[in-house]
Amino acid sequence: MAKILVIHGPNLNLLGEREVDIYGKVTIDQINKLLKKIAKEEGCEIEIVQSNHEGQIVEHIGKSKGKVDALLINPAAYTHTSVAIRDAISATRIPTVEVHLSNIYAREEFRRTSLIAPVAKGQVSGFGIESYTLGLKAALSLVKEKK
Ligand code: DQA
Repeated sequence: MAKILVIHGPNLNLLGEREVDIYGKVTIDQINKLLKKIAKEEGCEIEIVQSNHEGQIVEHIGKSKGKVDALLINPAAYTHTSVAIRDAISATRIPTVEVHLSNIYAREEFRRTSLIAPVAKGQVSGFGIESYTLGLKAALSLVKEKK
């Protein structure tokens, strides 16, 4: 059975109460519930983690090498700063889909650069919770392509 790792980066635990004008009222629990439902329908295994710490995210990726078929990640603020997370993705070669609730290219200048995008298979940005569902479907297609 295909296994997908989902990583939510910093401050995404605050969704629902955090900058609702940008991120909406959706909570991380609602996102996770929906991802689990889709995974069940698609017959794939899913592991979901959230971390506010860069090193912990690097470790989650590193220890998943050879154990997961794809990674779905919203690196949140680390998107724009983390060479370490980028290197973990390229070192493990886990096929990765990057997602963002907001359209990072329509926001402040500093958000318009993703250090993760060049090592990801692709990116979904700007569709709220749908970014995650579209991203999960893209990750599943990558797995099917590989098998
Ligand atoms: C985000 C966009 C990032 O710029 C921001 O730091 C986040 C959330 C998004 O999902 O839209 O925390 O990744």
